[in-house]
Amino acid sequence: MESTPRNKIGRREFMEAAAAAGFMIVKPKLVRGTAANSAVRVGLLGCGGRGTEDASNLIDTGGARVVALADLFPDQAEKAMTYFDRLAESKGLPGIDASQVFVGPKAYEAIAASKEVDAVVLTTPPYFHPQHLEAVVAAGKHVYCEKPVAVDVRGAKQVIEIGKRAEGKLSLDVGFQIRSAPPFVELAKRIQGGALGKIACGEAYYYGSTLERPDWPDASTVERRVRNWVFDRVLSGDIIVEQNIHAIDVCNWILQAHPVKAVGAGGRKVRADSGDVYDHYNVVFSYPDGVHVTLNSTQFDKGWWDVNERFFGSKGVSESHYSGPCAIYGDEPWSWSANTPVPQEKTESFSASGAFHDNLAQADSEKKKAFIESITSGQFHNQAAAGAESALSAMLGRTAVYKGHEVTWDELLKTNERWDSGIDLNKLG
Ligand SMILES: NC(=O)c1ccc[n+]([C@@H]2O[C@H](COP(=O)([O-])OP(=O)(O)OC[C@H]3O[C@@H](n4cnc5c(N)ncnc54)[C@H](O)[C@@H]3O)[C@@H](O)[C@H]2O)c1
Repeated sequence: MESTPRNKIGRREFMEAAAAAGFMIVKPKLVRGTAANSAVRVGLLGCGGRGTEDASNLIDTGGARVVALADLFPDQAEKAMTYFDRLAESKGLPGIDASQVFVGPKAYEAIAASKEVDAVVLTTPPYFHPQHLEAVVAAGKHVYCEKPVAVDVRGAKQVIEIGKRAEGKLSLDVGFQIRSAPPFVELAKRIQGGALGKIACGEAYYYGSTLERPDWPDASTVERRVRNWVFDRVLSGDIIVEQNIHAIDVCNWILQAHPVKAVGAGGRKVRADSGDVYDHYNVVFSYPDGVHVTLNSTQFDKGWWDVNERFFGSKGVSESHYSGPCAIYGDEPWSWSANTPVPQEKTESFSASGAFHDNLAQADSEKKKAFIESITSGQFHNQAAAGAESALSAMLGRTAVYKGHEVTWDELLKTNERWDSGIDLNKLG
């Protein structure tokens, strides 16, 4: 295995060596302490913004520590290593052992195989999720997989099969942390208990601002695609599958169903960033019993953003903003009043890490606490099927928009579509 110190070679040589070796040591660092404890040993696969947030949240539970890192790009792994080493140091814990830092296209296999790791946080770009999840579950590791679980129908079906293999053997969580946010939990319970009466229709919207990403001017076109995967349709699944899926997931959860058909329009009109993702979607989803839910989204708003779901029933109306009211109006009025509200300015730039305040203030901490408890108690979670259902729901809206006509759930599943990025990661760098 290559052990040349990172700073003695250029980035190109480093990547070539990493590609050849499959993975390599980034730099020597603290040897893992002998103070072995019962904490869940976490490996972070995909050391970007959300992965760093997710893994930090796991440490915050007090029941986990980060012992391994894996990333396609050495600089990303190094950045995360510095961050987690500092965090460990501040808590008087040992840093990450150099032998547990893996980079290159095969880094996902190396972290999956590591004997030092109990659970993997999977936060690579969505296109890679089925492949990476497959490896991690095959290696018997618990996994916290970020949404969306896949970008295409074939990938979602693969995740359902992976979930079946994981059943009862390990915990598999999917990153829909809103389902753990106390205001949303209470709202869902009340609506499902009949607080709105018979639901006729609903609206969900996800109005977000432009995502700020570095330009990577010296990178090749392909590398830039991977670095800025969020602007790339195939690597992200487009904004409806990558981002708006949170609102669609809340609709599925509250209505306890998935849409049976969709029709809609969308496009790329004003966004100026690179890539080919749309900047808006306008979809009408039909849920069972003819409950129609509109989904409107944007990803370019200046100075303002809002995310919300609203349901209209015979007894009342609900709304559930990320930041703003979470309430039911009508015959059975109710409103969430958080104990520790942190006002969030609407002008603040939209969160890329998922760290929101207000109604979502406890979403991540509750979600991560439940994940760790599921592992330590042996009461394993399995959110593969629900995660795939929400991914397929978003794909249904996307497909209807791309095709320009109504598409049913059954038609979508029959397409068995597979998206090909055309990228050979071994040739990167
Ligand atoms: N639940 C939430 O609220 C939330 C919020 C933000 C992002 N996310 C999700 O988290 C995931 C990651 O998003 P992010 O914003 O952290 O992206 P990011 O670009 O900041 O991080 C992705 C990391 O994966 C690495 N990577 C790319 N391809 C790889 C490969 N083949 N093998 C190994 N590493 C690879 C990149 O170098 C990068 O470090 C996405 O699925 C995204 O949708 C969820």
